[in-house]
Amino acid sequence: MSKVISVSNQKGGVGKTTTSCCLAVGLKKKGFRVLTIDLDPQGNLGFSVGADTETSASIYDVLKGDVKTQFAIQKTNIIDIIISSILLSGIELEFTNTGREYLLQEAIKPILDLYDYIILDTPPNLGILTINAFTASDYVLVPMLSDIFSLQGIAQLYETVERVKKYCNSKLSIAGILLTKFNPRTLLSREIRGTAELIANDLNIRLFDTYIRSSVVVSEAQSVQQSILDYAPKNNISKDYLRFIDELLAKGV
Ligand SMILES: Nc1ncnc2c1ncn2[C@@H]1O[C@H](COP(=O)(O)OP(=O)(O)OP(=O)(O)O)[C@@H](O)[C@H]1O
Ligand SMILES: [Mg+2]
Repeated sequence: MSKVISVSNQKGGVGKTTTSCCLAVGLKKKGFRVLTIDLDPQGNLGFSVGADTETSASIYDVLKGDVKTQFAIQKTNIIDIIISSILLSGIELEFTNTGREYLLQEAIKPILDLYDYIILDTPPNLGILTINAFTASDYVLVPMLSDIFSLQGIAQLYETVERVKKYCNSKLSIAGILLTKFNPRTLLSREIRGTAELIANDLNIRLFDTYIRSSVVVSEAQSVQQSILDYAPKNNISKDYLRFIDELLAKGV
């Protein structure tokens, strides 16, 4: 039975897609069976793992009921993935039936035994796609930048998780906050980490001890469609992500 993890933050550019990819690849390297699903109409995850985004079926086709989930899975050199589609951006208006929060949960039921982990990359908003992701998940992992605006967004994200927990999925929990693009050498970063700790404590959310440092190899690896862990295994960022996965596993996720 897979554990399903949403990687989510309504703020853009905080490292959701990068974290989804590194988490999935890192878990795969540890011997787990891992599937990623790209729920962001931007399709960044599909691109970065070198999936076919032209002719293959997408999660849009699956949610519409046109394609069976199993048949939408692509096995790339990097990871198994169900790609997104730009058509997902119209889903808010297109899917208006009752029960639309449960479409993804229903869709992944037949494949839960095929994978140990299913990682969901979500778009930068708290709309119906993110609600579907939360409804289908066991955990929400929150990548966050160490700046003050990011801290402000956490309460809103927390409320959304609480709402989904109450109405759609009682087993959902927040795995924790992961600081990304973190520069441990600046005073501001360290102060923000302190503030993040206070806010996390206040909401009873874990702030992971591991943080992800900033590195240019992230965009380099993504532009040549390689996983960061293979492109730059000795770089700090690869070490950070592997350490983070160890922490995640140690905490029972
Ligand atoms: N640790 C890092 N160090 C340096 N650059 C990073 C790091 N993590 C991500 N980036 C870069 O920051 C940008 C945003 O990252 P990413 O796409 O993972 O964020 P996102 O939250 O998925 O964005 P969106 O909200 O648009 O989906 C990308 O250009 C990526 O290459
Ligand atoms: Mg993204």
